[in-house]
Amino acid sequence: MSEENTVYATQSEQYEAMISRQPNLAHVINEIRPFNNLDVLDLGAGSGRLSTVLAPAAKSLICSDISSSMLDILEHKLTNENQTTNWKTVVCDHRKLPIPDSSIDLVVSGWSICYLANTYESDWKENLDLIMAELERVLKPNGSIIIFETMGTGYDTPNPPEFLTSYFSLLEEKYGFQSRWIRVDYTFDSVEAAVEHTEFFFGEEVVEKIRQHQWATVPECAGIWWKQI
Ligand SMILES: C[S@@+](CC[C@H](N)C(=O)[O-])C[C@H]1O[C@@H](n2cnc3c(N)ncnc32)[C@H](O)[C@@H]1O
Repeated sequence: MSEENTVYATQSEQYEAMISRQPNLAHVINEIRPFNNLDVLDLGAGSGRLSTVLAPAAKSLICSDISSSMLDILEHKLTNENQTTNWKTVVCDHRKLPIPDSSIDLVVSGWSICYLANTYESDWKENLDLIMAELERVLKPNGSIIIFETMGTGYDTPNPPEFLTSYFSLLEEKYGFQSRWIRVDYTFDSVEAAVEHTEFFFGEEVVEKIRQHQWATVPECAGIWWKQI
């Protein structure tokens, strides 16, 4: 298991406490593809940041992830907070989805494809090809894909990590995605809370910046890529 995936297996509660301080992205998704009454797949759903906003309006929702520990949190949130029954979880890898052909109107994927498509992975291009082929297979004609990825934590304008820039270029040049970026800042109650909730995930570099700038609000940028097939 990679170091990042260990975080999702063992520190899922801490991850959820951190990302719950970021903005709700329902309006961003809705602007690109209104999801009311659609069959939706949240690919790499994690603890449910996107699933919890999709579930109330979607016709059906599949929440897939490789981490059952993250999906446990998602299940708890969807059962107790949303009280919807139109969803199910599935533990699987992005490259092999146990989902029927032509069954999904909208795939949304937040901060997840990057784990297979970053240039530290020797097979990153093949991984991206496999993922895109799976998404095209499960999508209905005119289906849509919306992908969110980081453009830098601790930056107020895009500053994507170098190991992701080739992946981002291929999304546009090879797979025909359009793109834009937004701010997805974390809003904490204090500088100390910002340090406490982010250190386990982002490490010393971001924590130093938080202390230096005395940030209770930690700036972050996200890229959004979307296309209709
Ligand atoms: C940064 S979290 C994002 C979770 C959620 N989408 C969100 O917006 O908060 C990344 C998620 O991708 C999942 N993941 C990483 N590699 C994966 C793979 N190969 N197949 C499926 N899920 C994967 C992790 O388990 C984790 O839940």
